[in-house]
Amino acid sequence: MTKLIVQPSRTLRGRGRVPGDKSISHRAMMLGALAHGVSHVRGLLPGGDCLATLACMRALGVEIEVRSDGFSRLETALAVSTNLDAIIHGRGLRGLQSPAASLNCVRSGTTMRLLAGILAGQTFDSILTGDPQLLHRPMRRITEPLRAMGAEVADEDGRAPLHIQGRQLRGIARTLTVASAQVKSAILLAGLFAEGTTVVRQCGSARDHTERMLAAMGANLVTDGLDVTLTPGASTLAPLAITVPGDLSSAAFPLVAALLLADSEIALEGIGVNPTRTGLLDVLAAMGADIVLANDHEQGGEPVADVMARSSALRGTEIGGDTVVRMIDEFPILAIAATQAHGRTVVRDARELRVKETDRIATVVEELRKMGANIKARDDGFVVEGLTPLHGAKVDSHGDHRLGMALAVAGLIADGKTVVDHVECINDSFPGFADVMTQLGGILYSEVH
Ligand code: S3P
Repeated sequence: MTKLIVQPSRTLRGRGRVPGDKSISHRAMMLGALAHGVSHVRGLLPGGDCLATLACMRALGVEIEVRSDGFSRLETALAVSTNLDAIIHGRGLRGLQSPAASLNCVRSGTTMRLLAGILAGQTFDSILTGDPQLLHRPMRRITEPLRAMGAEVADEDGRAPLHIQGRQLRGIARTLTVASAQVKSAILLAGLFAEGTTVVRQCGSARDHTERMLAAMGANLVTDGLDVTLTPGASTLAPLAITVPGDLSSAAFPLVAALLLADSEIALEGIGVNPTRTGLLDVLAAMGADIVLANDHEQGGEPVADVMARSSALRGTEIGGDTVVRMIDEFPILAIAATQAHGRTVVRDARELRVKETDRIATVVEELRKMGANIKARDDGFVVEGLTPLHGAKVDSHGDHRLGMALAVAGLIADGKTVVDHVECINDSFPGFADVMTQLGGILYSEVH
């Protein structure tokens, strides 16, 4: 078991990078595998979730060569963690091979839900399984639309393992009842193998990395407001040549830490700022945060910028509606910021938090209360009364990477020592988290028991 020991820290300063975007890394491996030709993907996240996708794609017969991109904190003045450069030997739309064993998605919901869409339209059968945490998460949201497309999927009362018998699929028009990029992507990926057009009507603007990548690869895909239409027809997808941007969902942790610690100023380079992902930046700006974007450019079809944050006095705010979708992974760290904001912060319309890696409403409230926060759960969110000084405490990640990192940031601003238990999971999305934070000036280290 690994713990993070976190000491009160004075200030964060410097420039840095965070690992590659998790959502884009998954999609690059899956779509690169389906491309006709060799894809070159730089800056791929070597986190546990993406390594699960890598192993699954290899088990489906795809040759993927990876090597470290060579960055390490010893070689550069930047605070950085290592990414992977990948060469993916695409097998074409009809080239995946029957796997010899069950495909293990470990703790990665994106791996399972997106792969289910791809596997539903194959000519072979497959089983998607994973860790108990993943087997607990709802899968009916993808199995129902896939069945409507003609898929044969057996589940365990709406949960994985998923036993998929490959079938010829047909396109559908589906109105989503949950604003989920994973569900949208599963349907679109299945649509690649279907006869006829597939239309997904979203109920909120979930991240659009799948659409951007598919369109760049030559798929016949049109987005009109919240509607996405895919007409299979192009017989091949062109290979990718992209550099994955830094993950804003990882950058969120050092950025919020810099806002909350006195005299701090950090700049994180090359961060993905796709507007379907930037809800946290909008909310923090409304709370009074000094966050500035510079050097905006486009990289591999995605908007990218350097993101700067300086110490700021924050005030409480209200968050609901579409903003929730645009920052769905950022609520654990938003909760920490809210404890340091003057006044009340209210989060509503965020019931989806209950079915993430943990029930993030319950676990965030439980752990932050141990540190003295005034936070109450609501059915669809939480309410924080600030400003409350936090006290060092023994807290637990519950096996949830984003909760573990949020609690570490809470420890930096707390008085006294904080011990965050069960932090191996941080590697699921941000390997090198403690190194990057330390290089920026945070005082934290891991201890293995
Ligand atoms: C993701 C979509 C989101 C997000 C997850 C990654 C993706 O999940 O929480 O971390 O890559 O498509 P939902 O689609 O379930 O909201």
